[in-house]
Amino acid sequence: MSKLEQIKATEARLLLQTYDRNPILFVGGTGVHLIDEKSELYLDLLSGIGVNALGYGHPAIERAIINQGRALIHTSNLFFHEGQAELALRLTERTGLDRVFFANTGTEAWEGAMKLARAHAGLLRSEGKNIGTKFLALEQSFHGRTFGSVSTTYKAKYREPFGPVVPGVEFVRFNDVADLRAKFSNEVCAILVESIQGEGGIRPLTQEFFAEARALATSTGALLIVDDGIRPDVTALAKPLAGGIPLGAIVCTEEAARAIHAGMHGTTFGGGPLACAVAIAVIDTIEREGLLAHAAKVGDYFQQRLRELSTKHEAIIDVRGKGLMLAAELDSADLAKLTVAEMLKRHVIINCTSDTVLRFLPPYILEQDHVDTAIAALDEIFTEHAANFTAHAAGGQHLG
Ligand SMILES: Cc1ncc(COP(=O)(O)O)c(C=O)c1O
Repeated sequence: MSKLEQIKATEARLLLQTYDRNPILFVGGTGVHLIDEKSELYLDLLSGIGVNALGYGHPAIERAIINQGRALIHTSNLFFHEGQAELALRLTERTGLDRVFFANTGTEAWEGAMKLARAHAGLLRSEGKNIGTKFLALEQSFHGRTFGSVSTTYKAKYREPFGPVVPGVEFVRFNDVADLRAKFSNEVCAILVESIQGEGGIRPLTQEFFAEARALATSTGALLIVDDGIRPDVTALAKPLAGGIPLGAIVCTEEAARAIHAGMHGTTFGGGPLACAVAIAVIDTIEREGLLAHAAKVGDYFQQRLRELSTKHEAIIDVRGKGLMLAAELDSADLAKLTVAEMLKRHVIINCTSDTVLRFLPPYILEQDHVDTAIAALDEIFTEHAANFTAHAAGGQHLG
């Protein structure tokens, strides 16, 4: 039995069966490539679901892990260490917000942001304001798997098996300003959005919707909370923050922070010395190597190549996204599933979200020739297979 088969069998016996894993055993990585047990390389356009921004084996991350690992890994939040203040300085400078709380994951940061909103509304009530406890979240949202986060996550399959979830959440139609206005009232303590819905299919929030949410929240004192975004009262960050070491953060305004006092919220592991040291190394590397500008440039190229592909293959009905958070929506869920599997056979890793959306979340160090490799593989797959799938095959217009 191969090592992979042995691991599969043991996991099947011992783990909760929450994951439908691809049958590959990765043992290493270098740059934008993962390496499997047979030393074969895979072009990783998913980066551990948007986490490994610097790719694999980046010397800055290795150095930070080794140095901090030698010095101090964990202290708890009962004591000071050097990392939190330094990292908070970087996060507040870059977001324009005032204060930070460090958590471990995205869902934990979101959960804390929701608690902050409830506490803030409570503070406003104690000061005589008329404001309730309800949350407005968006349809197609995804905020994580813990109870608060899953309560504000739209898909019923994530929520319903665990009901009753946290009460007081209403969903607003995505980018529907009229629906937002209709559902907003003094009862609402926070409006919860993603600036680009990820799991929801790489769908950007419109400026118009964001502006209306901003204005409505300001009118009552409710908070505007953004999962991974800009210009809110509160934002929740995680994913690439510490380049693969778990770290989340709530970053908020001074006004929102008024609601939290010592002992109200906390964590054993959040913002530990190791995670903070690596996050500082990640942020400084992104800055030093100009990786945001690089990602924007390669992302534009990637998007343009996907658009070209969509003119050739009718199966691609939309291309969207920003920077290196990109999507190609297909007209068939079966074709999307097959495309992911066929890409993997060609050693290119992508995934599919919202049934029909091919999602690309590569490391920021991606280069144009990697994009060309991925586009060539997609072209080959659509040419070979797209005609067999119903939606456009029925129209008889397939050009590939
Ligand atoms: C927008 C958003 N919020 C929250 C989460 C949950 O993060 P985590 O898996 O780190 O708990 C995710 C994860 O995919 C996400 O995309």
